[in-house]
Amino acid sequence: MRVVRNVPDLVSARKEMGAQRIGFVPTMGFLHEGHLSLVDLAAKLANRVVVSIFVNPLQFGPGEDLETYPRDERGDLEKLRRRGVDLAFVPSAEEFYPPGAATRVHVEGPLTQRLCGATRPGHFDGVATVVTRLFSLVRPTVAVFGQKDFQQLQIVRRVNEDLGLGVHIVGGPIVREPSGLAMSSRNARLSPEEKTQALALTRALDEGANAIVRGERRAEMVRMAMSRILEESPGISPVYADVLRASDLAVVPQLEGEVLLAVAARVGVTRLIDNRVVTIEQSQS
Ligand code: PAJ
Repeated sequence: MRVVRNVPDLVSARKEMGAQRIGFVPTMGFLHEGHLSLVDLAAKLANRVVVSIFVNPLQFGPGEDLETYPRDERGDLEKLRRRGVDLAFVPSAEEFYPPGAATRVHVEGPLTQRLCGATRPGHFDGVATVVTRLFSLVRPTVAVFGQKDFQQLQIVRRVNEDLGLGVHIVGGPIVREPSGLAMSSRNARLSPEEKTQALALTRALDEGANAIVRGERRAEMVRMAMSRILEESPGISPVYADVLRASDLAVVPQLEGEVLLAVAARVGVTRLIDNRVVTIEQSQS
């Protein structure tokens, strides 16, 4: 595996790959099986795999965890090596953005209005900007993103389409701990007790999904059922519990087709998110 740390080296390594099918997995490191499942998927869809590890300052707001975001470059590179990755791009912020960088990619409309768009102002501009720059440097055939960050995945699809970036965007399923907790780099910061408390997120999603299975179609009722679980759970500060149309994250009063159940909560100082997509069959509604 080749490791490159600046943009000129990335560009020349990419040039050497030529016209092969390039699979790309952008990450912020502290890699776990969720990330590595995306690497495996990329390897199936392409014949060269590129992974970036870059904790992107642009997507962290003031008071967020940029400085304390977990890092383990050596461990990460070893995991990628074992997974057969061809090229790891590990730039510093100074190496990644050119001096004087002033361009931001901003996505309007319902895709960014709720969930993390509402609770982390500027976050998705930071994500859209870094992903656009990564795509133009790596020029992948296919890029794989996790459904764990469902809103991010939909925003990346939108940016790719709107700017004509020409990348095939693939979503990979959420990888969970045996307990049901969605894997996240931030889980490393949870105490054993907090790990148990964090299961409130999956319980809230279960509650919402069960309400739908029982025939509930009023979005507000599903939202309330999920919120109640978060509010009642010890050690949890709810951030949001929402149910939206999955395709465009629009608010719909009556649920039909594919819907996204999404929750976010703080467990101690750690902010966690989780989601589930539920399909409501026509005949059921
Ligand atoms: P990061 O949180 O490191 O996640 C990198 C990729 O791994 C994302 O596509 C995310 O959805 C996916 N992922 C994380 N946990 C997962 C899990 N449990 N199962 C499946 N996939 C999972 O998301 C980012 O970094 C950044 O915003 C980035 C896209 C790299 C831009 O900076």
